[in-house]
Amino acid sequence: MAGSVRSGGPVVLVGCGRLGSAILEGWLLTETVAPADLIILSPSEKPAAEAARAQGARINPPLEALTEAGVIVLAVKPAIWREVVTPLAPFLNDQAVILSVMAGVTAPTLAEGIGGWPIVRVMPTTGVSRGRGVASIWSADDRAQGLGRALFEPMAETVVLADEALMDAATAVAGSGAAYFYAFTEALARAGQASGLDAATADVLARATLRSAADSMGDDDLEALIGRIASPGGSTRAGLDALAKDGRLTRMLDETVAAAVRRNREMG
Ligand SMILES: NC(=O)c1ccc[n+]([C@@H]2O[C@H](COP(=O)([O-])OP(=O)(O)OC[C@H]3O[C@@H](n4cnc5c(N)ncnc54)[C@H](OP(=O)(O)O)[C@@H]3O)[C@@H](O)[C@H]2O)c1
Repeated sequence: MAGSVRSGGPVVLVGCGRLGSAILEGWLLTETVAPADLIILSPSEKPAAEAARAQGARINPPLEALTEAGVIVLAVKPAIWREVVTPLAPFLNDQAVILSVMAGVTAPTLAEGIGGWPIVRVMPTTGVSRGRGVASIWSADDRAQGLGRALFEPMAETVVLADEALMDAATAVAGSGAAYFYAFTEALARAGQASGLDAATADVLARATLRSAADSMGDDDLEALIGRIASPGGSTRAGLDALAKDGRLTRMLDETVAAAVRRNREMG
């Protein structure tokens, strides 16, 4: 995997904040990119960048170093990307690929600011830092898409989207999803308290249940997983029936995801 990335030239990470650091840590952990092939551009010192530097990565070298770059990973805030890429563009070679992890900045918008290079959009979660993220990938260009996959598959479960417009829905499910599960866990703990558990016990039980459920899930069919816990006429089935009464679970999540999609579109 590292070979395919290396063959295109160094990987340039622009921005080493919350997500940029997570990506960097994931690449090093999974040995996706050799440290010597990494160039990191960051206005301030970051622990993840310093750890990469100790292994051979270059931090803020003269911009001439970018002439060899195979891929430029844009991990800055959407509000400032234009001013960030403008000084970099003159140094990029014809074969470079632009990989953006910025939420809501579409490929046509990117092409206005940094046109002429293939673009791949990737929407990862910060779980990539532990090699256990989720990433949605879209590109109109096969080589750019392949590079996006090579860089993220080692540290994330990835899906390739057929249409860029689906990025908003993928972000609403995967990018926001962990927060929905945490909110559900919090509500489950509160419900445990309402049924007599003390707060600390309810919190431990709800969190441990989420962890245990995630561990046991694998790729099994979800109905089959439910069926293994909920026997007909049993207490879990009674709980599930209450959860789904009059379609409220489906309706609630439809509304949740639709609201996040709408907000993603507004911000784009
Ligand atoms: N965080 C997530 O979970 C997540 C998930 C999916 C997508 N994203 C996307 O990832 C991008 C970054 O988000 P974030 O949460 O990581 O934000 P962040 O923590 O604010 O990181 C942005 C980084 O950009 C750096 N920066 C500013 N000007 C720069 C320049 N001229 N050259 C190089 N770096 C520069 C900042 O450096 P200083 O710290 O020195 O100011 C900062 O560390 C956003 O576009 C966001 O939409 C984030």
